[in-house]
Amino acid sequence: MEIDGKVAIVTGGSSGIGLETIKLLKKEGATVYFTGRNIEKVNKAEKELRCRGFVSDVRNSKEIKRVVDEVLKRQGRIDTLINNAGVYYDGQFAEETEAQTREMLETNLLGAMNFTKAVLPQMLKQEKGSIVNVGSIVSYGKNPGIATYSATKYGLRGFTYALRNELKGKNISVSLVNPVGTKTDLFRHSKKRGRGLLLQQAVVPAKAVLHAIKTGKAEINLAPVRAYELLSLLRRLAKR
Ligand SMILES: NC(=O)c1ccc[n+]([C@@H]2O[C@H](COP(=O)([O-])OP(=O)(O)OC[C@H]3O[C@@H](n4cnc5c(N)ncnc54)[C@H](OP(=O)(O)O)[C@@H]3O)[C@@H](O)[C@H]2O)c1
Repeated sequence: MEIDGKVAIVTGGSSGIGLETIKLLKKEGATVYFTGRNIEKVNKAEKELRCRGFVSDVRNSKEIKRVVDEVLKRQGRIDTLINNAGVYYDGQFAEETEAQTREMLETNLLGAMNFTKAVLPQMLKQEKGSIVNVGSIVSYGKNPGIATYSATKYGLRGFTYALRNELKGKNISVSLVNPVGTKTDLFRHSKKRGRGLLLQQAVVPAKAVLHAIKTGKAEINLAPVRAYELLSLLRRLAKR
């Protein structure tokens, strides 16, 4: 799908990969709306990006509906949805709080599913649309210390492929972009803060998101899957 002149919603657009994606979308001529939870961050991003942001939590279906209704009122259409909002907690699963487990599942997986549910009727009516889910290369790993986060990203991969097949012939593409370690605020709660491999700038996965919209490709991995699986195995062996 061409991006020029299109209407896009980016969830979690107030920082990191979402923010960089919005910059690129705007550069290519899209009208972009975004969401975030933190009002200061949303206000700051609105000024920087010069586009409308909503303080809206993807865990809340009523708030999702408010955003979708408002965009439709202003634009009459939604061409692309980028399900990017995400949170990350690591550590031993037995020590993870129920609130952390819930927050990851409800944001990273259920939030993306519910936002998709809210825009799909419009895309079906338009007989055109593009949905891009921001997953993670960890959906090919078996990494200890991120059981719930991995579950959300494995889940998002399954959701993407199943929905993609369900929508075949409807002119609506569903794609998955799997970033590798990226320098953003995502790891601010990490117990291993500052460690690990933060390899990429946020603009790299952002470019992949635009590529997914343009080509409708099923999946874009920001690292070769086989190499990642091997790295994941070597890390597990090193821990023994
Ligand atoms: N950074 C990496 O290494 C990496 C690797 C693979 C995949 N990813 C994925 O990339 C996506 C973007 O993450 P990022 O790295 O750019 O991190 P980030 O800078 O922390 O951005 C996350 C965004 O999501 C928003 N958000 C979080 N919970 C939300 C909720 N319940 N409702 C609405 N917005 C919410 C945040 O807004 P608030 O701050 O206001 O909550 C923020 O705008 C995530 O899905 C993440 O899992 C990142």
